[in-house]
Amino acid sequence: MKFNKPQKAGRKNLSGPDAKKRRRLLVVSNRSPYYLESTGGTIRMVRNVSGMVTGLEPVLSSTKGMWIAWGTVPENCSADIYRIPPSNPTFDLKLIPLDFDELKHFYMGFSNSTLWPLAHNFLGRTAYLEEDWRVYVAVNQKFAAAVAQEAKPSDLIWVNDYHLALVPMMLRSLRVRSKIGFFWHIPFPPLDLFRTLPWRKEFLEGLIKADLIGFHCRSYVQNFLHGVEDILKKDVSFGKGLIRNKRTVKVGAFPMGVDYAGIQELVAKKEVLEASKRLRQDIGVDHIVLSVDRLDYSKGIPERLNAVERFLEENPRYLGRISFVQISVPSRIQIPEYYRMRQEVENAVGRINGRFARAAWTPVYYYFRALPFEELVTYYLAADLCFVTPLRDGMNLIAKEYVAAQDPQKGMLVLSEFAGAAEELKEAVLVNPYSISSLVRGLKEALEIKVAERRTRMSQMRKRLRRKTVEKWGRAFLDRLKESSYDGKSVRRKKV
Ligand code: G6P
Repeated sequence: MKFNKPQKAGRKNLSGPDAKKRRRLLVVSNRSPYYLESTGGTIRMVRNVSGMVTGLEPVLSSTKGMWIAWGTVPENCSADIYRIPPSNPTFDLKLIPLDFDELKHFYMGFSNSTLWPLAHNFLGRTAYLEEDWRVYVAVNQKFAAAVAQEAKPSDLIWVNDYHLALVPMMLRSLRVRSKIGFFWHIPFPPLDLFRTLPWRKEFLEGLIKADLIGFHCRSYVQNFLHGVEDILKKDVSFGKGLIRNKRTVKVGAFPMGVDYAGIQELVAKKEVLEASKRLRQDIGVDHIVLSVDRLDYSKGIPERLNAVERFLEENPRYLGRISFVQISVPSRIQIPEYYRMRQEVENAVGRINGRFARAAWTPVYYYFRALPFEELVTYYLAADLCFVTPLRDGMNLIAKEYVAAQDPQKGMLVLSEFAGAAEELKEAVLVNPYSISSLVRGLKEALEIKVAERRTRMSQMRKRLRRKTVEKWGRAFLDRLKESSYDGKSVRRKKV
């Protein structure tokens, strides 16, 4: 991973036999798959571990494509395009620097203080600021211009997520003729909530210039189509997932999976197995319950901790025999809501431990840091139960990773019915995170479920995850995009 001079990429990168058959892919996202770290004059490329990167990197590599994302270029570096991964480059990364004001209004503002709370049903936390919207438009324009510089008509363009909703329309205005797919990774809010957005019309108009729009769940597709029908007065087909515009736009559910084979490789490693056994011994209880989240109010962490406290209160026979491990990954800490959330969570952990802990027993272990993936897998393996209870979540890959990593004889999942993953993982113990009694009941049910039933339910979920991997997710979306009808020509109106 370490290298001294990042190689500036050549523009002619369509070579090799594969590239002839496959169309080049351009991926556009706010978060970059790699970031540059400069220490003592040496520049390193560090990979961002996320489902999106795991899913798209292999596809991008096989098409010799380009990823375009926000990124800071270190002072001693003049290039803005890098060959990635540094050890064995297969695609290009183009970085778009954003200044403080852009980050404040585009990223912290409109993306994460307007769209994020709105999409997760937190109307009371949603800000509606003109300045944020203005900068959001300008930054989307900046991304679109960077993409337009690179795009050829035969390329496929994959635009990622709510930060960049206007990019499809802006690309069309810049006369980009490539097929454009847009993937929206978070929930799409119901019409009544979405209508509170003062720029709802411009927002949807920006988005529907894509040829294909993907969501993780069918219910988000339906919410989105309702919005398009009501606000833009377009003719939509809810059944077929189509918007009849001048062109036909396809809209579909593509539930994201996990890197099942990669996880199996890790759980088969001797060091991982031994580390997980050591972890069990160190914690030293009969039942380990694990939760892993970005520290975000949508994840329902305080609500979950309240349930843990209630559970310990009502079930004294578990005292000394159960420990909860809460791994909270720092996130968006510049936004006051997130800062306050950290305090709230840490107070709750302190309160529970202060109340119940005794010598040689810690009720709640709390980490405020990200763990390397291999270490996270040792926790998955060590845990008897994964307690995933977001108030709202686009998908939630932690739930899927935990099930994929589990020993077939062990493990159980308690899952919020408001996580996208609940549409597929129906064999989990489903709970309503808004109700403390439902959380406590679900926890108890999962702990006390009969062994045979637990095995059957876990194995059904594992089978599904083995079939529907993250790689298949990426391919399915791209295959559907290839079939779509843009290609720079006008298209006949289809009967909907
Ligand atoms: C969600 C979004 C992603 C985003 C991630 C991390 O999962 O759907 O687009 O990258 O959160 O958030 P961050 O603000 O750190 O990029």
